[in-house]
Amino acid sequence: MTHTIIEPFRIKMVEPLPLTRPEDRARFLKEAGFNLFKLHAAQITIDLLTDSGTGAMSAAQWAAMMTGDETYAGSESFFELERTVRDLTGVLHVIPTHQGRAAEHILFSAIHQPGMVVLANAHFDTTRANVEYLGGTARDLVVAEAADPSSEHPFKGNIDLARLEQHLKAEGDKVAMVLMTITNNRGGGQPVSLANLRAASELARRFGKPFFLDAARFAENAWLIKQREAGQASRSAAEIAREVFRLADGFTLSAKKDGLVNIGGLLGINDDALAEKARALLILTEGFPTYGGLAGRDLAALAVGLREVLEEPYLEYRQASIRYFYNALDKIGVPLMRPVGGHAVYIDAAATCPQIPKWEYPGVAMANELYLEGGVRAVEVGTLMFGKPGPERDETAGLELVRLTFPRRTYTQSHVDYLVEVVDEVFGRRRRLSGYRIARQSPILRAFTAELQPLAPTPLPAAGR
Ligand code: F0G
Repeated sequence: MTHTIIEPFRIKMVEPLPLTRPEDRARFLKEAGFNLFKLHAAQITIDLLTDSGTGAMSAAQWAAMMTGDETYAGSESFFELERTVRDLTGVLHVIPTHQGRAAEHILFSAIHQPGMVVLANAHFDTTRANVEYLGGTARDLVVAEAADPSSEHPFKGNIDLARLEQHLKAEGDKVAMVLMTITNNRGGGQPVSLANLRAASELARRFGKPFFLDAARFAENAWLIKQREAGQASRSAAEIAREVFRLADGFTLSAKKDGLVNIGGLLGINDDALAEKARALLILTEGFPTYGGLAGRDLAALAVGLREVLEEPYLEYRQASIRYFYNALDKIGVPLMRPVGGHAVYIDAAATCPQIPKWEYPGVAMANELYLEGGVRAVEVGTLMFGKPGPERDETAGLELVRLTFPRRTYTQSHVDYLVEVVDEVFGRRRRLSGYRIARQSPILRAFTAELQPLAPTPLPAAGR
């Protein structure tokens, strides 16, 4: 009997990894205003900034790209994608967009009413920004366990059903929709259980509200339901995903994640009138409804990706590689967002560096140190990303996390072994790290562009590669 879960693919095309020296990295980081978003790819050895659009496509997807139909109106690649999406989700209207946030913007604009409220387990940052940009209020009603990194609750993405019901009652007509983000990216890539999705859908229905999914990581969520939820182990991930989509009136989907493509998004809608409004907006900002901001070849690759992502050897390997990293860090004693999530490992930076107050961005301090140590780029998911400037200091976010996000089908086990060494080194000097202050920031989505300054000179790693 063999036990090793192997990558269920072999490599046909390779891309060299940039290798840099510690003194160069210190300079690159300074030139980037101490904001990892501003680094250049050639300065990064292992890039765990995001799993969005950074994965590897399969030979079958590249083959589909070659036969993509570039017809402006009525592209056959669109109809192929439409068939695939309808089969997977059961949705009536399939609207392609250039990425997830375009689908969000169009959906919220189409459903918009003055003072609208969106009730969600958790809004991702672009989702929240799109609701707020339209003058709406985005409420996060995730279960209390989500705020506790040490809780081993298997479904920390669940919505608190009692609070959802309260808000549906209290905010009545103002509620534009109930939105479930699967998995909960902000809170650790934690899944939402099937039971919770069924109950939330029923509640929304009872109050006459549309029930939507932010389905960016629908396949990972389905896999984790299969692994963790009582009574689901014997079903296929595909079967579970198909049921989940059918609980909803529609969805937004960033295809850059579980679509296994480098660019793309989808808006799925059942309601005819809402879909008509959405298509009118689509034509205004994205393009004609049979391509919506994408090339025909992108649509073709996405149709293949949506099928491949539900193949179980792939999902099993994906989860195993993230668990392998999680277990190694856990063994070293690194405080982690527990349990392991679907697309990333999240380090609890507040617990790792208690000497750095939240308004001095412990997550940024740790992420920057990982870069200095090993050319690894992670991302802060904490007060820089979700906090807001206050009169004296920032209103802080709930959790200070560093997300080490795994691109799909991109890195191998030796890369992960290297990552473990890099984190181990930084963890060894965690108490000597100090925080940052913001020198410049923008009012919307500041994390992407802010310039920071270290509050103490960052020491160079003693030995580096
Ligand atoms: N919803 C979720 C849950 C996401 O994680 C993202 C993007 C979006 C929507 C927006 O989709 O990027 O295609 O416009 N998340 C990326 C990340 C950026 O790094 O987690 P998009």
